[in-house]
This record gives sequence, C-alpha cells and structure tokens, in this order.
Amino acid sequence: MTERLQKILAARGIASRRAAEKLIDEGRVTVNGRVAGLGDKADPAQDEIRLDGKPLPPPSLTHTYLLLYKPAGYITSVSDPRGRRTVLDLVRGQIPEGGRLYPVGRLDYATSGVLLLTDDGELTNALLHPGREIDKTYESAVLGEVTAAKLQRLARGVRLNDGMTAPAKVRQKRHGSGGSTTQTVLELTIHEGRNRQVRRMLAAVGLEVVWLKRTSFAGLTLHGLKPGECRELTEEELTRLLQYK
Ligand code: URA
Repeated sequence: MTERLQKILAARGIASRRAAEKLIDEGRVTVNGRVAGLGDKADPAQDEIRLDGKPLPPPSLTHTYLLLYKPAGYITSVSDPRGRRTVLDLVRGQIPEGGRLYPVGRLDYATSGVLLLTDDGELTNALLHPGREIDKTYESAVLGEVTAAKLQRLARGVRLNDGMTAPAKVRQKRHGSGGSTTQTVLELTIHEGRNRQVRRMLAAVGLEVVWLKRTSFAGLTLHGLKPGECRELTEEELTRLLQYK
C-alpha cells in the first residue's frame, strides 16, 4: 500500500506531517536510493526509505501494539465495577513499565477473537472512525438451518433499532450437528462497529447465536494464537496498520 512520504515519516514518529514535508522539500529523504520530492508516495513495507542516509526506525519503538485472542468470559474494558475479569488481566506481563494499554473497540463478554490493544491513541481513533470502514470478520454458530433468504437479508442489510445496517459479506461455512442440535456456522464481514451488531443482525433475521468469534480485524487474524494468548504485531503487520493513521 503506497502512502505519501510525509504520512509515513509522521507514523514513524520522525516529525509532524508538516515538518516531514519540510524534510522532504530539503532533499533529506530518499526512496530506494533516489532523493524524494514533495508529493511522492512509497510503500513502507516494500521501499527502502531513508532520512539523512539512515533507515527509518522500526514502527514498534514508539508504542506498544498487542494482538490478543480474547476468550469468551472476559470484559473488554480496563476495569469492571462488577469485578469480572478484563482483557487486561490477560496481557499484564506484556505491558511496559508505567505503560497503559487500551483495547481498540469492543468485543462482548461472551464473544471471543481478535482484539488489538495499544497505547497509540491516534491509531485507535483512526481505526474506530466510522468513515474508515475497517473490515471485521466474524464467525458465528447459529441454531438450525439457515435459508438462502436469511443469508440474503443479512447481506443486503437489516433494520435494527438504530437504523439499517450497511451491506455485509455473508457466507455459510459449515453445517452439522453439535450434539443433539443442528448448527450452522456463518461468516460475516462488516465494516460498521455498532454495539452488539452481529448478534443483533442475526437476531433480526430470527437466528439464535450459539457462539460468536471475530476472526479478523483490519487484516489482523488469530493465526498462531490460542484463546487467552497474545503477541506483539510483526513489523509487517504494524507497518500496514499504521497506514490507516
Ligand atoms: N458484534 C457483536 O454482536 N458482538 C461483538 O462482540 C462484536 C460484534
């Protein structure tokens, strides 16, 4: 993904965008060995960008970014008046001295899956901004069979008490019996982030949720993680994510 150079420099904590433009204008920034000009774009995951001949610092030096496989039974907030376990209980050992991490958005108590935690407020705001339309993919087991008409209604958008949902990508993944009951596993990709949105969408078409799991958020997946485990983002993941800033 290519971005304007001043945005890339700002995302790496080099300078504000305005000050980064000045650095570019002064000829101090090179891309793959060639002096860059104002307005130039680059792909920080592919191109070699240097300032005064030195490579840019890796993005992770400025903030902490953790990817957690949230299990069901944890609340997505920093504390809970009812004393329930919070997602921060799962990442305590990974928070730097004196640091504070916040979850980016929410997953319900009973929902599992991808949750990003960071102290980068600018990235958090960018990812949660409704205009950014960040993709979130969920898997859900529902009771019984799911008709094509219900899949179509979910895909077109359904009416909730806070208005119509945007069209979603929906597909049926599996169908089988979970013990004595028939269950169907659906995959839904949405870009809105309303409260309990997927559960409400499924209820609106008459489907009863057995479990709900977020399998992807802004391209980050659960790959390699077990429930309750977390890891730092790879440099490649982070570089891609910071382009949303
Ligand atoms: N939609 C829901 O219903 N619950 C979540 O936790 C996330 C999306």
